[in-house]
Amino acid sequence: MAGLYIHIPFCRDACTYCDFHFSISLKHLEPMMEAIGKEIEQEKDFLEGEELATIYLGGGTPSLLKPKELDRLFNTIKRYFSVIQEAEITLEANPDDLTPGYLKSLRQIGINRLSIGIQSFFDEDLEIMNRRHNSVQSKSCLEQANKSGFSNISLDLIYGLPGMSNEKWKKNLNTAMDFKPAHMSAYHLGYESGTVLDYRLRKGKVQQVDEDTSIEHFNILVEGMEDKGYLHYEISNFALPGLISRHNAGYWKGEKYLGVGPSAHSFDGRTRRWNMSKNSSYIKGMEKGNIVYEKEILDNKTRLHDYLITSLRTMWGIDMDYLREEWGTEYHEHINKQSVPYINRGKIRKANGKLFLTREGMLIVDHIIQEIFL
Ligand SMILES: C[S@@+](CC[C@H](N)C(=O)[O-])C[C@H]1O[C@@H](n2cnc3c(N)ncnc32)[C@H](O)[C@@H]1O
Ligand code: SF4
Repeated sequence: MAGLYIHIPFCRDACTYCDFHFSISLKHLEPMMEAIGKEIEQEKDFLEGEELATIYLGGGTPSLLKPKELDRLFNTIKRYFSVIQEAEITLEANPDDLTPGYLKSLRQIGINRLSIGIQSFFDEDLEIMNRRHNSVQSKSCLEQANKSGFSNISLDLIYGLPGMSNEKWKKNLNTAMDFKPAHMSAYHLGYESGTVLDYRLRKGKVQQVDEDTSIEHFNILVEGMEDKGYLHYEISNFALPGLISRHNAGYWKGEKYLGVGPSAHSFDGRTRRWNMSKNSSYIKGMEKGNIVYEKEILDNKTRLHDYLITSLRTMWGIDMDYLREEWGTEYHEHINKQSVPYINRGKIRKANGKLFLTREGMLIVDHIIQEIFL
């Protein structure tokens, strides 16, 4: 079974922290949807006949698509792929788009999971982020989505925002929990290069939270979520039992996926490729039937690196027996040896032949992966 990711590269406004690929000019929306349809047709054999178990519309802002546009997109998908009956079909949505009428249409189209970018329940935070919605909409969209019959809802929150106290972060989390979402993704604010927030930081107009606050926010998050019965299955992701994001779990478990649309990534078990980002060039390319992408055939070492990165971030951990079978005793011994200092310092835990990050280890995951891999 495989996954399909569709990147919708448009947003109504730019959030101050975001460096995902999107354009705020919607004038190419129609030709873009044509081009995406063409890419779906052209790549119908990429998954070698595997059925789709998950479809994920991400962005950008997929919720700016009209029901008619979504309907057309799903018709195209179904024409070229077979989708299993109980497929997980997710749409990333911005709160201000989720009117009762729109939610009803989404259900009719077959979308059965929403990932809603709440980010915060406080107006002053939403202003710093230049979000289009306000704190009232943060709550009302969740109420409306529940009322419309969506039972599988994920929400995104951001912590470590400038000036965010522990108390405020706790309040945000508790408000989120009041809605009993099936799933939650919570990210520490990143100052990505080229974003407005990064510019403000360099000009001294905003201040990053200090390291202690970052750690405290993470601890509040993990303890708060676990107390409420959520499974901490990936560093930034939590789910009620049985409600892990099947699409994202596919990425982390190395399953095949096709990504269509500008900047989308694909993986067929042997090669990884990523589409060009520029919207106008992507559209022009698709008009001639050319998808412009870069491609990397994964050698043994890159596959190991990918396996370490993805498995260590999750509750499934690094399976040392699997590592030996796939990459041989030399790599097995190397990783075993490299992990010892981290086990001694309480950053990695070893159990049942697997390596897992401890909560402390999660805070330095990038460093650990680099060190144990080298
Ligand atoms: C690409 S966005 C798409 C979701 C949707 N467009 C929205 O904004 O609601 C996915 C999520 O990544 C997170 N994110 C993006 N940039 C981030 C950053 N610099 N720091 C922390 N979280 C970030 C946000 O929580 C966001 O909801
Ligand atoms: S966070 Fe979402 S809405 Fe904001 S710019 Fe990024 S993709 Fe667009």
